Amino acid sequence: MANELLPPYRDATQPVESRVRDLLSRMTLREKAAQMAQIERCVASPSALSGLPVGSVLSAGGSAPRERASPRDWADMIDRMQHWALASRLGIPILYASDAVHGHNNLYGATIFPHNVALGAIRDGDLARRIGEATALEVRATGIHWTFAPCVAVCRDPRWGRCYESYSEDTDIVRTMTSIVAGLQGSPPLGHPPGHPFLAGRKNVIACAKHFIGDGGTDKGKNEGNTICTFEELEATHMKPYLDCLAQGVSTIMASYTSWNGRPLHSNHYLITEILKGKLGFKGFVISDWEGIDRLCQPHGSNYRYCISASVNAGIDMIMVPHRYEKFLEDLVFLVESGRISMSRIDDAVERILRVKFVVGLFEYPFSDRSLFDVVGCKEHQILAREAVRRSLVLLKNGKDIKKPILPLDKNARRILVAGTHADDIGYQCGGWTITWHGSSGRITIGTTVLEAIREAAGNETEVVYEKCPSEATFSDREYSYAIVAIGEDAYAEFLGDRTELGIPFDGATMISLVVGKVPTVVIVISGRPLVFEPELLDKIDALVAAWLPGSEGGGIADVLFGDYDFEGVLPITWFKSVDQLPMNAGHNAYDPLFPLGYGLKMNLDNRS
Ligand code: GLC
Repeated sequence: MANELLPPYRDATQPVESRVRDLLSRMTLREKAAQMAQIERCVASPSALSGLPVGSVLSAGGSAPRERASPRDWADMIDRMQHWALASRLGIPILYASDAVHGHNNLYGATIFPHNVALGAIRDGDLARRIGEATALEVRATGIHWTFAPCVAVCRDPRWGRCYESYSEDTDIVRTMTSIVAGLQGSPPLGHPPGHPFLAGRKNVIACAKHFIGDGGTDKGKNEGNTICTFEELEATHMKPYLDCLAQGVSTIMASYTSWNGRPLHSNHYLITEILKGKLGFKGFVISDWEGIDRLCQPHGSNYRYCISASVNAGIDMIMVPHRYEKFLEDLVFLVESGRISMSRIDDAVERILRVKFVVGLFEYPFSDRSLFDVVGCKEHQILAREAVRRSLVLLKNGKDIKKPILPLDKNARRILVAGTHADDIGYQCGGWTITWHGSSGRITIGTTVLEAIREAAGNETEVVYEKCPSEATFSDREYSYAIVAIGEDAYAEFLGDRTELGIPFDGATMISLVVGKVPTVVIVISGRPLVFEPELLDKIDALVAAWLPGSEGGGIADVLFGDYDFEGVLPITWFKSVDQLPMNAGHNAYDPLFPLGYGLKMNLDNRS
């Protein structure tokens, strides 16, 4: 029964499309333009939200209310902004967004799950969905409505700094892992029966499939580079994961910084409007990447009116401005009034944005749900993350003689040496997009390091010796049963991770060589991608484990090293011998990897003698 006292757009019993039409009809051009703007937290002022009802606010990587902010700090900040937005003339609530790409990684103390490349080693869609559900809960606990995840890039060249954000080089593996969308948004998300909108009904969040399209296929893996291929190749390799996301009702899609055959995606009407919205029927909204439209001109952001008209006319609905929103609004209004952007395009964009806001129940549930504070980093989520860690490990070598495997290790050995730059570093374990945009070394958040996990698992009589940088002195006065050496990459994000060389950083090969000559050694690689192991080094190592970027629950590594569980992971990406071979993917003619896609050994615990 319609509520006569409320304007239709405020009446939750009205059909979504009626509410969209009613609200749109009440909006001025300036208000419509404001809804198409997403601004960063640091410029989200009362005037920006009450006076110019911007559509959305985001926290960039690391942009928190304060250092080690609590869920309450986040909820207070976002609810305060929401009150400003609701005080605007039409009271349109904002969507607040953040990159929760492996758990709620902007939040100190959140459960940090393994990055996507690790999950690709498991290839379990149900696990992806469960991780999505847990992530959504921790994101909602802070009052955030929307995460810029999943990244469904198909990384074809590991020199790309975002290789670890891709589930795999293999399209079908990425497709399997898109089930995270159902975990994040709930299922069926857009088919919620009235009164059960995502934000309240089941503690879900809005997902964002990114980066459309071909972000993982650029020449030489260059970040924000150019993907050169036919449309058929683009469809076969990079498009299919989006079909799976659409089938699960993904509400938003982010455009890629990259170009396709020289045409920037941010101004690509064919791919965004004709294909994504037309042929594939996407009904949510497309958001630009961070200053993505600015990159349409050189130097970045010059000729801003062209950047706006090219991107909005191509079909981008919301612009991640993120700072100079007054300039954006002024130019967008000018472009519409001067006829360079049609009002029908503006109405289409705003309808899409409002549709998502109505469907998820934002008008009815604009504020945080403070009953969720305790889910952040809860035991249940830690257990889930620990399961993901142990299942993602890939055993690449077990024993110089296959008949004499070194794994599983004896947890009651007399003395264990744990060494390496990555043995006791939660920051390196988590990698980029953790607490800060690019991540960092050190005790950046709560979690269990490899060393702590080994200490926890080892027997009471077992001595665990830790040497971050072992030397000859490490061995001069005592013997070890065996050594565990954890090496790997520093933390990085996006272009900071683009590499032309992929040797073991921090002189890890020298460290390994020092240790392997003295004691049976298991090497654990903490990295966002395969690294080069020269044959002579590999021959000296007794066992080699790819641990990827496992996140906060290092206990999952000890669970497998000591045989509580067998290895399950298999390579989601080709392990090359040399970067000179790249790009090299399964199916290529000259396919000569060190370890092929899908490779992974087991310890076969059941037939242990
Ligand atoms: C970044 C990334 C994108 C992220 C966005 C907001 O530049 O390309 O993946 O979601 O900005 O942080």
